Amino acid sequence: MRTQVAVIGAGPAGLLLSYLLHQAGVDAVVLEARDREYVRQRVRAGVCEQPTVELLTEIGLGDRLAREGLPHEGFSLRFDGADHRIALTELTGRAITVYGQQEIVKDLVDAHEERGLPLHFEVSGVSLSDVDTERPVVRYRDASGTLQTLECEAIAGCDGFHGVARPSIPDGVLSVFEREYPFAWLGVLAQTPPSHEELIYTHHERGFALHSMRSPEITRLYLQVDPAEDLAAWSDDRIWSELAQRLAVDGEFTLREGPILDKGITPMRSFVAEPMRHGRLFLAGDAAHIVPPTGAKGMNLAVADVRVLSRALVALLKGDASLAESYSDTCLRRVWRAEHFSWFMTTMLHTDPHADPFARRLQLSQLRYTATSRAAATSLAENYVGLPFGG
Ligand code: FAD
Ligand code: DHB
Repeated sequence: MRTQVAVIGAGPAGLLLSYLLHQAGVDAVVLEARDREYVRQRVRAGVCEQPTVELLTEIGLGDRLAREGLPHEGFSLRFDGADHRIALTELTGRAITVYGQQEIVKDLVDAHEERGLPLHFEVSGVSLSDVDTERPVVRYRDASGTLQTLECEAIAGCDGFHGVARPSIPDGVLSVFEREYPFAWLGVLAQTPPSHEELIYTHHERGFALHSMRSPEITRLYLQVDPAEDLAAWSDDRIWSELAQRLAVDGEFTLREGPILDKGITPMRSFVAEPMRHGRLFLAGDAAHIVPPTGAKGMNLAVADVRVLSRALVALLKGDASLAESYSDTCLRRVWRAEHFSWFMTTMLHTDPHADPFARRLQLSQLRYTATSRAAATSLAENYVGLPFGG
């Protein structure tokens, strides 16, 4: 089999890249390890930056997003038992949209299927070779177990943090920068209307908590837990009681409880591999970098990467390598801004079990400054709504 671009992974990065390439007249084949239902149902991110919404709308994938997405012009920052609003739109003129990552993935899978674009689920044993030549090759077993060989002109490694693309790059090529955090998130999806019209990010001595949503009927909530925490230790009752304690403020706030539809624990890390390219293998999204989720940046960064990559690949396949040469540097500027912002939000909002009293006071001072200074809140808001793509 032959194609122009082999795309490994059908997350937001791989599916959007394939779609952008097809729109530009470039052939691509997407190879995904999981089955179709798993990919469509996986509960992950919820916040779309304004540039992400604008891009999806521009390419004709914004209809359902416009109908079902929830535009938000601010969010609550809670600490010391008080609520402070970060007025995103008043401060920046921009907004975010709450629309589940799995809804974007569904829209992209549907767009592929309606147009008959090649998207293969349940592939296994993906291996990459000849990536430093102009004719790289991807070998894999298809869903029926048959060995397949895909010859191409470029490979896009969009296979997430645990994929095969990054580890196929020879030792010594990549520099890795990383941080682990002494906490994780327990995320729950609950069948209950949101308890507040906006997102709530709470710093509490018992640990961070986040109130988010997916629709007027579905709430998404997160609790800071120990990275070694056993999910089995968290009964639904314990989850609701902990959330109620952490989200409480002086005055009126009632947490609406309901049946829990999904729960899971996610570790938190910061990670960047540089450069994001080796020969004709290009890394995009979580395959190249991870941010802790507190700044809601991971999926948005994946979208930003593939927007740059699609243009670079279109030019490369026409014989102009300049955008491919600058791909990594262009993306890494945005990646490092998001790495800093995600680290900043994470360290400002979580309760570090190892923090000394000096660090605790610095943290509280930062929270108070962010809540009371228009300049500090504007800086946070500008990063949160998403800096323009540029270029
Ligand atoms: P992925 O979504 O991980 O997709 C990679 C795909 O590759 C997967 O489908 C995988 O099955 C496939 N794959 C892996 N290995 C192979 C292989 N060997 N062969 C073939 N296929 C393979 N981001 C935000 O922007 N906003 C948020 O609000 C937000 N909240 C989050 C909350 C949580 C709890 C979590 C866990 C993440 C959150 N994120 C958020 C991050 C966001 O979900 C990720 O950054 C995003 O999924 C990255 O997309 P991707 O396409 O790069 O990778
Ligand atoms: C959601 C996830 C995040 O990481 C975040 O910062 C805000 C909202 C969510 O899943 O809704």
